[in-house]
Amino acid sequence: MLKSHSCGELRDKHVGHEVTLAGWVHRRRDHGGLIFIDLRDREGIAQIVFNPEISKGVHKVANELRNEYVAKVTGKVAQRPPGTENTKLPTGKIEVIASDIQILNTAKTPPFYINEDAEVDENLCLKYRYLYLRRPRMKDNIILRHRVEKFMRDFLDAKGFIEIETPILIKSTPEGARDYLVPSRIHPGKFYALPQSPQQLKQLLMVAGFEKYYQIARCFRDEDLRADRQPEFTQLDMEMSFVDEEDILSLLEELFTSLMETVKPEMRILKPFPRLSFTESMERYGTDKPDIRFGLELRDLSAIVAESDFAVFRSAIQGGGKVKGICLSGCADYSHKQTEELTELAKSSGAKGLITLALPAGSFDKLEQLAPDKVKSVAAKYLTAEQLKEIVRKFEAKPGNLILIVAGEPKMVDKVLDELRREMGHRLGLTDPNLLAFVFVVDYPLLDWNDETGRWEPMHHPFTAPREEDVPLLDTDPPKVRARHYDIVCNSYELSSGSIRIHTRQLQEKIFRLLGYSNEEIEARFGHLLEAFDYGAPPHGGIAPGIDRVVMLLAGAENIREVIAFPKNQSAIDVMSDSPSPVSKAQLDELHLKLKDEETIQT
Ligand code: AMO
Repeated sequence: MLKSHSCGELRDKHVGHEVTLAGWVHRRRDHGGLIFIDLRDREGIAQIVFNPEISKGVHKVANELRNEYVAKVTGKVAQRPPGTENTKLPTGKIEVIASDIQILNTAKTPPFYINEDAEVDENLCLKYRYLYLRRPRMKDNIILRHRVEKFMRDFLDAKGFIEIETPILIKSTPEGARDYLVPSRIHPGKFYALPQSPQQLKQLLMVAGFEKYYQIARCFRDEDLRADRQPEFTQLDMEMSFVDEEDILSLLEELFTSLMETVKPEMRILKPFPRLSFTESMERYGTDKPDIRFGLELRDLSAIVAESDFAVFRSAIQGGGKVKGICLSGCADYSHKQTEELTELAKSSGAKGLITLALPAGSFDKLEQLAPDKVKSVAAKYLTAEQLKEIVRKFEAKPGNLILIVAGEPKMVDKVLDELRREMGHRLGLTDPNLLAFVFVVDYPLLDWNDETGRWEPMHHPFTAPREEDVPLLDTDPPKVRARHYDIVCNSYELSSGSIRIHTRQLQEKIFRLLGYSNEEIEARFGHLLEAFDYGAPPHGGIAPGIDRVVMLLAGAENIREVIAFPKNQSAIDVMSDSPSPVSKAQLDELHLKLKDEETIQT
């Protein structure tokens, strides 16, 4: 190699050694004759000193160095003079006194700082991704990702799992998003779909007898992007035969616990992972992706206010809705502007408004003393003293607390309060960044009614098995059927979904029919899977943690893009190579495609 050591590896023990380093100029300082260079490579940063008294020629070359130049330096490792050590750098006690330098390449001034972690416009950091990835934090994220994937592979290998690749050009498999389609050249008018996940393939591998499969699998979904979503992402896709829910959940708990202990021992987790049923999670947090690092739990006030004189509450309940709220410590003195801001937030997530109930400091010592005129709220004069006391009792609220209440359609109420709860948890400093609060969410319903399409939809996917004792309800009371489906959630992110699968033709066909597929559609879309079930399919189940989200949490990143080397932007564009891009007419002809809008063809 061009170098004898890496910049980041030098320590006290190297003092006196002659070393050759190669890397990028991270920073350059000129101190009246002496030139200091921070030379950066993948392993870290070393300080190089160029002294004209040691070599005028070398010093002259060093004078030409600019940020991001690539250079090779030879010199002797020395202790830094007392008082000049840098405790923030692992190499901060030493420096290299240069005796030779070679500029390996020059560099234009980068469009943003690499030696500072200042915010960069999204498209700029994607266009110059190779420069953004030079930032030490990004480099650390990508290395962390490598370590996470390596850990997962080693862990599963030791547990007897086999990694099997599955094709990228497949037939569409439903996971709830739109497919990315690939037109076939040799079969005019026919298309492959890119996998939304290898769901059916991993089930077929169970039929094939592999028993324990995993794959670090790339998945593709054409859906709206968010901070934790990319159009292509990576799953640790797993499937096992002859297992039940407990086998999979305990394996996953062990995997995540030992992953944390190996790659992020400084972070804490809750052991054993708490479990919440879907219903309990919705009641207490308004979501099946709860952040359980803090309380601020939702309370249902419907029974207390159903008969109240406050029309907002009463009409919501009469219309089949709910009245629920959360209670915030120390916020009773929020200004009108602050509560207005919370109201706007509630409205932006679908609420008609937000009722606040402030209990000023000193408003009561004992709850019995609480008088309506002490409570600051537009609702107070419509509520009886007893109703107000019941509300306070429900939250175990104290003077100084602020209660936020939302009334209306139950799904909307939960959604808004989940939003407010997470926002306030954040603002009140309750979201400990060093705590990864994993939680298993279980006992999901099998089906969810879609008002728009007027059809049942699977809560997870159509291959999820119903609980055996609930199978008769498929004919009589479908919404009551519970699924053998489980999720792993951490700090409000859904990390993994999985389930025990259906493994008989009869039950699978029944579910497809319930989901509104005709017999012809079932045969055309899923005939291969149903046929496989006729040949001795073992009972099986699996799960698929999203690797990008896992790394995002471990890295403390706020956006999934920060842990993917080459992500797409918010509009699913690869800004660096400008993709998607138009193609030539010849290419379209070859694929038997004609664009509706001829102007979009590349000329
Ligand atoms: P599901 O669709 O829930 O399940 O996906 C599993 C996990 O994949 C991650 N994920 C994503 N990450 C980034 N961007 C996206 N667009 C995205 N979509 C999903 C999440 C999610 O929890 N085949 C089933 C798994 C199974 O049943 O075994 C599946 O794909 O972390």
